[in-house]
Amino acid sequence: MAEKKKVLFSGMQATGSLHVGNYLGALRNWLTLSDEYECFYSVVDLHSITIRQDPAVLRKSSRDVLMLYIAAGLDPDKCCIYYQSHVPAHTELAWILGCFTYIGELNRMSQFKDKTAKNLSNINSGLHTYPVLQAADILLFQADAVPVGRDQVQHLELCRDIAERFNMIYGDVFTIPAAWLGKTAAKVMSLQDPGKKMSKSDENVNACIFVRDERDVIIKKCKRAVTDSLMQVKYDKENQPGVSNLIDIYSACTGKNTDEIEAEFAGGGYKELKIAVGETVADTFEPIKKRFAELESDKAYVDGIIKENAARAALVANQTLQTVKEKIGFP
Ligand code: TRP
Repeated sequence: MAEKKKVLFSGMQATGSLHVGNYLGALRNWLTLSDEYECFYSVVDLHSITIRQDPAVLRKSSRDVLMLYIAAGLDPDKCCIYYQSHVPAHTELAWILGCFTYIGELNRMSQFKDKTAKNLSNINSGLHTYPVLQAADILLFQADAVPVGRDQVQHLELCRDIAERFNMIYGDVFTIPAAWLGKTAAKVMSLQDPGKKMSKSDENVNACIFVRDERDVIIKKCKRAVTDSLMQVKYDKENQPGVSNLIDIYSACTGKNTDEIEAEFAGGGYKELKIAVGETVADTFEPIKKRFAELESDKAYVDGIIKENAARAALVANQTLQTVKEKIGFP
């Protein structure tokens, strides 16, 4: 009999459209991992309401993110793609784990500190306990691996601490998960300020390329990318962060390494590099957009996937939750 596959869990927030950073930094890795692992990819909509959301917008963007997972190539028959809010076990386990998490631990989370600094008018307790819900997401599925960006490593460490604490008291209930960070840290920076991470909420529309941007928009944004006056295509993050960011994007899309890319554009100006990056990114997103449009027009198919996969996720999650409840001593 085939050996049981290791389990992988990851999720993305259901806010706004996905951009080139989400794709190259996360989604593309998820694709390559989906053969090796049994994968659960959630649209983590419960996490999204720590910031105030417009209901219609949240509903639409949640569905868009879910469809983009599929459009990007994740096979919903193989990977479990579902909305977090459709599986009540997430919130139930989060409550329980909250009783095994110290306030001091939550206070130390740097994302909590950043988010509260940005949301002074709405420092709700959901922002504070956010990492507990995240721990519940992961532990419900007994995940071995969790692909995350560097900004989530601290949350993952807390998840491990909570799981180990629980296991110390009740026996081996939870698998201790490991962060999966990928070989290349494909961290995509803003096209307008390469000192900042690319963000969908950037005020400057040219800072961020969305997966669903039109081809000419993608190329235009790349042409407008901020570079420098050194006039050499060289990978030097310190002195040429803008050019290096473009090289990173180009490298991630083409698989070429930095030496090859420097050689390709040696003697040329930045214009050639920018156009090449724009065209390559547009080419990468073309089939995804096409598939997305098909999914958008096939409501019944997508609805079916949403329903079936939520049931599959619930089956696994409820097993863990049941064990936890028994261990704790609930009647
Ligand atoms: N907090 C993650 C982020 O903002 C999203 C997330 C929620 C997540 N639950 C998760 C990621 C579980 C990995 C595993 O990016």
